[in-house]
Amino acid sequence: MEIINRRQRMSSVSRKVRRELDKTIGLVPTMGALHEGHLSLVREARRMCDVVIVSVFVNPKQFAPHEDFSRYPRDLTKDTMALSDYNVDYIFAPPAEEIYPKGFSTYVEVERLSEQLEGAARPGHFRGVATVLTVLFNIVRADFAYFGQKDAQQTLVVKRLVRDLAFDTEIVILPTVREDSGLALSSRNAYLEPEDKRAAAVIYRALSHAEAAYSEGERNGKKIADMIRADIEAEPRAEIEYVSVNDADTLERLDRLDDRSVLIAVAARFGKTRLIDNIILNKTSKTGQLVMP
Ligand code: PAF
Repeated sequence: MEIINRRQRMSSVSRKVRRELDKTIGLVPTMGALHEGHLSLVREARRMCDVVIVSVFVNPKQFAPHEDFSRYPRDLTKDTMALSDYNVDYIFAPPAEEIYPKGFSTYVEVERLSEQLEGAARPGHFRGVATVLTVLFNIVRADFAYFGQKDAQQTLVVKRLVRDLAFDTEIVILPTVREDSGLALSSRNAYLEPEDKRAAAVIYRALSHAEAAYSEGERNGKKIADMIRADIEAEPRAEIEYVSVNDADTLERLDRLDDRSVLIAVAARFGKTRLIDNIILNKTSKTGQLVMP
């Protein structure tokens, strides 16, 4: 496993892999602080591709000034150790100036899909995500890139980015990995006090309750959202930011659930830590967004 810091080296290595060796490349873009959720993406990349590249870059452009960029967990040694068990070929861990050279002034904006939910709560976030992924996709030119369903809106934004700008990289989305309590794995769980971590499991309990109501025939979007709110509000340590019921492909807000796939997304704070989670109902509809290779 080689750790690459320079964009030029990364480009030339991947060019060689593709052209001379005629091998497929799987890219797993991350911001480090790797957990089992990331490792599930790495495993799938390893299964599908000849060469696996994991990028580790805490992208300053997707954090608003008041957010946690400076305290975001960073430990490349630990991440490297975690990846050494997975037969990863390259870690691409560039310093910021390799991704954003001096005078950087080109940004990518995925309109509409970026504007609600996380986009409304974190203005500029998806512009930062789309921009860094455009740079990474151009450097690596992977055949496949892997993302987790936990960041549901990000998966939609990335798929639209790749389609609209005609990247030759196929996006693979894999299910959210959870603790036994149901809490979705996230690098930000490291911030949680033990009591908040216990309390945060309420999010998935609430989402599962909604899923059960949907299975029993509930099709009123507002009722489902209210049910989730009530469940989460019963936990005194939780502070809800949003509960939203949307079309899983377009993010159109749904009052009445029909035969489309439905994304139920939640953002809530526990102490100072902001967590997001979601479930998709009716995944079998023709447009359901989980891509299981
Ligand atoms: O999901 C993340 O960790 C980041 O948003 C990503 C995709 C690596 C872009 O910085």
